[in-house]
Amino acid sequence: PETGCLSIIVLGASGDLAKKKTFPALYNLYRQGFLQSNEVHIFGYARTKISDDELRSRIRGYLSQEKENHEVSEFLQLIKYVSGSYDSGEGFTALDKAISEHEISKNSTEGSSRRLFYFALPPSVYPSVCRMIKSYCMNKSDLGGWTRIVVEKPFGKDLASAEQLSSQIGELFEEPQIYRIDHYLGKELVQNLLVLRFANRFFLPLWNRDNIDNIQIVFREDFGTEGRGGYFDEYGIIRDIIQNHLLQVLCLVAMEKPVSLKPEHIRDEKVKVLQSMLPIKDEEVVLGQYEGYKDDPTVPDNSNTPTFATMVLRIHNERWEGVPFIMKAGKALNSRKAEIRVQFKDVPGDIFKCQKQGRNEFVIRLQPSEAMYMKLTVKQPGLEMSAVQSELDLSYRQRYQGVVIPEAYERLILDTIRGDQQHFVRRDELKAAWEIFTPLLHRIDNGEMKPIPYKPGSRGPAEADELLQNAGYVQTHGY
Ligand code: BG6
Repeated sequence: PETGCLSIIVLGASGDLAKKKTFPALYNLYRQGFLQSNEVHIFGYARTKISDDELRSRIRGYLSQEKENHEVSEFLQLIKYVSGSYDSGEGFTALDKAISEHEISKNSTEGSSRRLFYFALPPSVYPSVCRMIKSYCMNKSDLGGWTRIVVEKPFGKDLASAEQLSSQIGELFEEPQIYRIDHYLGKELVQNLLVLRFANRFFLPLWNRDNIDNIQIVFREDFGTEGRGGYFDEYGIIRDIIQNHLLQVLCLVAMEKPVSLKPEHIRDEKVKVLQSMLPIKDEEVVLGQYEGYKDDPTVPDNSNTPTFATMVLRIHNERWEGVPFIMKAGKALNSRKAEIRVQFKDVPGDIFKCQKQGRNEFVIRLQPSEAMYMKLTVKQPGLEMSAVQSELDLSYRQRYQGVVIPEAYERLILDTIRGDQQHFVRRDELKAAWEIFTPLLHRIDNGEMKPIPYKPGSRGPAEADELLQNAGYVQTHGY
């Protein structure tokens, strides 16, 4: 691993994302020894005028419930705060000065200096912040090192706006310096997909249109927009979840075997999947909006924004022609769950009448309670010769007792420090993702497609279940 001084700069340090996700992830990395106090300094930057200690006490509550905790106190001592606006040379000059002082004090004549800028900011300020960093805060060490930026969605609202943002950032930073986070790529079972698919003989010959009937990728939340109505209404469930999180999962499920595990090889294969997608058909989309969504004062009374969507995506290639990929995402539903369901075709020439028991299905549950299970048909134990559906079950909690599964952000931040872009979205990937959804999103934005109301706490509109059945999904039994 590289050594030398590491400065992590959290821009938007007083905001929600920073407090709830970024600082806790940094703390966990620190606690596990991935951030060494003799090398690392963390800088918070935001407009609010507060002291170092005020920032520290704001963060403290998100790190540990214990009042006295040495690790927390040590970690907080690594944090300094600089205030300034997002478009002023003055603020960023002060920030650069603080970083440089730290570099001089810790460095290390022999070490290089590394600067990681984490944007916990609204994307509207990305271009100006990038300009400021480029003008005032780049790593200047002669001894090497780097400057990297970490950004998070929303990357635009459609193809044109995303491309505009990409060019603005791309004029200032090279692709290897830009880390576009999609936190689903940091989830344990999403990272497992590559191993599962390409290291198991079981799956290799079956993973195609000859054997698989349909694939569902599902995200459900049992709560609504909860104070984020203003943001959400601008974007809706397709931009918030499907175009990024679920589509990334789909790429890993559908892609061909990469040449190697090099980030570029993996990302090349993902892009090919996206580029092979057929346009989404209106008749294969069901939109919903939960009743009560518009009671949020920040949501307009006539909002047409979907909080639920089910749709069929189709990949036009040799492996997947004719296999529907059913994407389903919704807020305020009956449960919180994210899973991938791979449903196999019926067994030909069935002598057991198994179809009545259900098809083979392979389920990967991303959350909660990570698990993988295979639904298969076995003989009903007992004197009779009858078939019944059962499960081969790998539940992480049981199998890996005592193993703490890292938070997605923790893992991804560590990757940014290590310079591993495998789990980050490349610019051409982002563009291809927007190409798929932009026509549909424009039709929804223009009011040409309307969401169907559904009751909070329900399964969403019944029309979505019909779409699922029409796409070929057969309800199985058991879990
Ligand atoms: C975010 C969305 O990207 O992902 C939220 O903006 C959503 O609306 C969240 O709640 C879900 O993440 P997770 O990790 O809890 O499934």
